[in-house]
Amino acid sequence: MSAADPPPSNAASNPALDPAMSPAEAEALVRGCLAPEIAHRLRSARLKEGRVILVAEAGDLSAGARVELEAAMKLAVTRIEGVAEVHVALTAERRRRRIIAVGSGKGGVGKSTLTTNLAVALARMGRKVGVIDGDIYGPSQPKLLATENLRPLSQGDKLVALDSPHGVKVLSMGHVVAPGKALAWRGPMAGKALGQLVDAEWGDTDLLLIDLPPGTGDVQLSMMADSKPDGAILVSTPQDLALLDAARAGQLFEQGDVTIIGLVENMAGYECPKCGHISDPFGQGGVERFAKALEFPFLGRIPLTIETRLAGDKGEPPAAQDGRIGEPFRALADRLARWLDTGEV
Ligand SMILES: Nc1ncnc2c1ncn2[C@@H]1O[C@H](COP(=O)(O)OP(=O)(O)OP(=O)(O)O)[C@@H](O)[C@H]1O
Ligand SMILES: [Mg+2]
Repeated sequence: MSAADPPPSNAASNPALDPAMSPAEAEALVRGCLAPEIAHRLRSARLKEGRVILVAEAGDLSAGARVELEAAMKLAVTRIEGVAEVHVALTAERRRRRIIAVGSGKGGVGKSTLTTNLAVALARMGRKVGVIDGDIYGPSQPKLLATENLRPLSQGDKLVALDSPHGVKVLSMGHVVAPGKALAWRGPMAGKALGQLVDAEWGDTDLLLIDLPPGTGDVQLSMMADSKPDGAILVSTPQDLALLDAARAGQLFEQGDVTIIGLVENMAGYECPKCGHISDPFGQGGVERFAKALEFPFLGRIPLTIETRLAGDKGEPPAAQDGRIGEPFRALADRLARWLDTGEV
């Protein structure tokens, strides 16, 4: 290199912290800088004015390996532009896999769509997420997560979760039995089927999202008895009839001492693709008012769009795309990530 050459710089390829980033986006950036061999150990990354505090799991490591892990994390994160200081706290405590249920009283309000997209958005932040299709009689996840033609293997007496093309693991009765066959199952069998999906081999998955069937039937009851979720998200469209059903679903979780993380309003505000006029087929703001009245957090709204429906039918979740269509799902995933890390939305 001659003296006239500019100094080598890889600044263009260096990731950079942007003060406008949400905490979840900043965490995703940090996670993305870590090699996969160590990224799965990162439990959380908190940022404050250029100072980064990482918490990582190291309970199974020797003293030497702990030192190496700490050094590797520090080195990787220091390379991020805008990071002045990195602290690594190692914890011996292994995080238990957590379960979040997505429910509603009423059918067709968007539980499955929300579950898929929350999972994909969280996976894009670097989280290890799996989706369980709890809708034993009418599974949707094989289509939504583009795994219709896959069949799970078994390991001993356990099913092995499938890898979807969107970085999320998934299991559904739709992957196991012929379409329509489960319809003949009586309630207790459907409950048992859910248990089998939860107890499957999920690898290093930290978080399981259960896409519940509508109502408060056998699947919900056996889930509360055998695989009680750590929290529940309720979805509703804004009209009164859906809200009444959502209230019933809320009662089921409250009676079982399951925290209601919050309510999501789906199919709010339809923008006419021709003239841009926004109409509200199911009313507007109903879920937020209802959440306030019941003192549940309101997590956000998802507009009714043709693209969302088409994307679901094609197995290409909006949250896997970068455009506007994925935005509401990413915002909701941010709030869920915060709840998982801090207990607050
Ligand atoms: N925000 C939205 N915009 C447009 N279409 C949507 C939206 N949310 C869901 N849909 C569509 O509405 C239909 C029902 O959604 P989905 O299957 O997610 O509801 P569900 O509550 O899981 O239904 P079920 O109770 O039958 O399990 C699907 O065709 C889906 O693509
Ligand atoms: Mg569904």
